[in-house]
Amino acid sequence: MPAARGLRRAVIFLGPPGAGKGTQAKEVAQRYGLPHLSTGDMLRDHVGRGTSLGRRARPIMERGELVPDEIVLGMVEERVSRPDCANGFVFDGFPRTLPQAERLDEILRRRDLGHPLVLHFVVDADRLRQRLTGRRTCSVGGEIYNIYDRPPKVDGRCDNDGGELVQRSDDREEVIAERLAAYKRQTRPLVDYYRGLGVLRDVDGSGEVSAVTRAVLKILTQAD
Ligand code: AP5
Repeated sequence: MPAARGLRRAVIFLGPPGAGKGTQAKEVAQRYGLPHLSTGDMLRDHVGRGTSLGRRARPIMERGELVPDEIVLGMVEERVSRPDCANGFVFDGFPRTLPQAERLDEILRRRDLGHPLVLHFVVDADRLRQRLTGRRTCSVGGEIYNIYDRPPKVDGRCDNDGGELVQRSDDREEVIAERLAAYKRQTRPLVDYYRGLGVLRDVDGSGEVSAVTRAVLKILTQAD
């Protein structure tokens, strides 16, 4: 399918850990020529580089809790002020709390980007746990695999660049439970918030990757 261009809007991928937000958001960002902004990836980058932000975020992420709003908002404001975000962006894992959503509204108003389009991924808890424990990520390019559903051609190596596939430290059973609880407690209320604004679309995220991509692209085409 050729790249679709011209969606001058912020698109938000909202859903619990393991719902497939990253997998789908990367695909959409590429097709629409928009930057893919994952606050999880940004935070992991800070942790990996050992910045002061990363040192604050690391223990919180390892417990599966949410990083404080002021840390995330500072990082996001800086990122969206760059020129590549002038025509919209794809958010993956942001916003995750009501204060984050309200600040994003302000940012979008200032940039004349209107309301975001929110794709809400719905997947049952058992499937989420299996996806998270089976996830492996390329240490070079970040490509996402799953040992159960999306294995690489060669065990432990990325199909694209041969990079080593690694397991995220927060994909351990006990941390997964806390991440799911944090979602329910702090992020789930955003579903009602955005539904109330009339900008939320539910996506059944339980099908195979290509079926979910088709459903997402259909919604985006209608919103275009
Ligand atoms: P983050 O990195 O955002 O993690 P998350 O929200 O927990 O989401 P995941 O990345 O685990 O899952 P996903 O939905 O992207 O699924 P994926 O596509 O990888 O956040 C990590 C931490 O950072 C947080 O816990 C928090 O501490 C902090 N943080 C980040 N943002 C923050 C914020 N805004 N505020 C405060 N703190 C923040 O898929 C998962 C697996 O399933 C993969 O193996 C994939 O191959 C597989 N899969 C995907 N789709 C399918 C499918 N359709 N069928 C079969 N398998 C599939």
